[in-house]
Amino acid sequence: MKTTAALIETEHLLGAHNYKPLDVVLTRGEGVFVWDIEGNRYLDCLSAYSAVNQGHCHPMIFKAMMEQAQKLTLTSRAFRNDQLALFYEEVAALTGSHKVLPMNSGAEAVETAIKAVRKWGYEVKGVAADQAEIIVCSNNFHGRTIGIVGFSTDPDSHDGFGPFAPGFKIVPFGDIDAFRAAISENTVAFLVEPIQGEAGVIVPPAGYFAAVRELCTKHGITLVLDEIQTGLGRTGKLLAEEHEGIEADVTLIGKALSGGFYPVSAVLSNSEVLGVLKPGQHGSTFGGNPLACAIARAALKVLTEEGMIENSALMGERFMKGLTDIRSNIIKEVRGRGLMLAVELVPEAGGARKYCEALKARGILAKDTHGDTIRIAPPLVITATEVDWALEQFAAVLAST
Ligand SMILES: Cc1ncc(COP(=O)(O)O)c(C=O)c1O
Repeated sequence: MKTTAALIETEHLLGAHNYKPLDVVLTRGEGVFVWDIEGNRYLDCLSAYSAVNQGHCHPMIFKAMMEQAQKLTLTSRAFRNDQLALFYEEVAALTGSHKVLPMNSGAEAVETAIKAVRKWGYEVKGVAADQAEIIVCSNNFHGRTIGIVGFSTDPDSHDGFGPFAPGFKIVPFGDIDAFRAAISENTVAFLVEPIQGEAGVIVPPAGYFAAVRELCTKHGITLVLDEIQTGLGRTGKLLAEEHEGIEADVTLIGKALSGGFYPVSAVLSNSEVLGVLKPGQHGSTFGGNPLACAIARAALKVLTEEGMIENSALMGERFMKGLTDIRSNIIKEVRGRGLMLAVELVPEAGGARKYCEALKARGILAKDTHGDTIRIAPPLVITATEVDWALEQFAAVLAST
């Protein structure tokens, strides 16, 4: 068997260097834990960027995947399959959506929504051809396609990849006046994350989304909430929009829609927006395949039936309180909602990466983001004992400097 060092060396030699992972080579996962090839156990505080909300290798999702994989995996949408309608029915019932369009990655769901709201703008709102505008937020993260990175304000995501598609206006996140000022007769949609995840778990000011909802309704603007990271229990509710007391016109989900077994995403909407797409205007070879649908159905079932969303709210509160109670001169702020948490360090701390390395040595895998922030997002099945143990490790690492 190759050693940790040998595997890292091969990755370095043969792979594109588009990630800078912690030097831990994982081989097994179960619930909130993962193990490296040397047998060390870690509490996963990233959950594959919130794709593994249900915990690693959940046995019920695994069972659904195996049963479906033995029967039928892919038909393409040229033919129908017996899982798709059931997936539609269950997702629609759970989320109150009228139409569902299944895709694979999160970025594809975002691209799909952009296409749909533009077409809706021309056909329903009456915007002149090719004039549709979509408002987005600075520090957004919606994925990595050319269409999406064109309206990113993160230089790493954006710079050097142009030319980009026109039709996007960027406003500061959480600033309702800026949003109001950006609206024109050509505005077809506002695409926004309920909490900005990749930006460092940025929670908007109270009342922001209620005001956004009001303006969108008043001006005939489709409110598209990207819940790919915040959705499916991560913030302690099924969808983060529930914290704001609003309903989006279009909701994007992905990541935990498969519990980490397979890339599955979906665009959820009212009848009007997805209703504009006609045969031949959008598609994907793998989107809506029977294996993906069976996995997603099981992933949603365990998420709701095993109390994971409620546990996220409870354990999130416990984790947040414990982090807030840590006495440390290097903690600038603790923020988040449910089990979507972040600790921002003061600049003098010298960056979050070395603290993530120290946490790793104590059996916790967490991810630094944007230099000074440690992001904490364990699987939603974490117990109180595990939260308390994790807090001891965070306290030891953050208070020891
Ligand atoms: C809010 C949000 N949207 C979209 C994406 C893109 O998802 P994917 O990596 O599956 O394309 C992510 C991924 O981190 C995300 O956090």
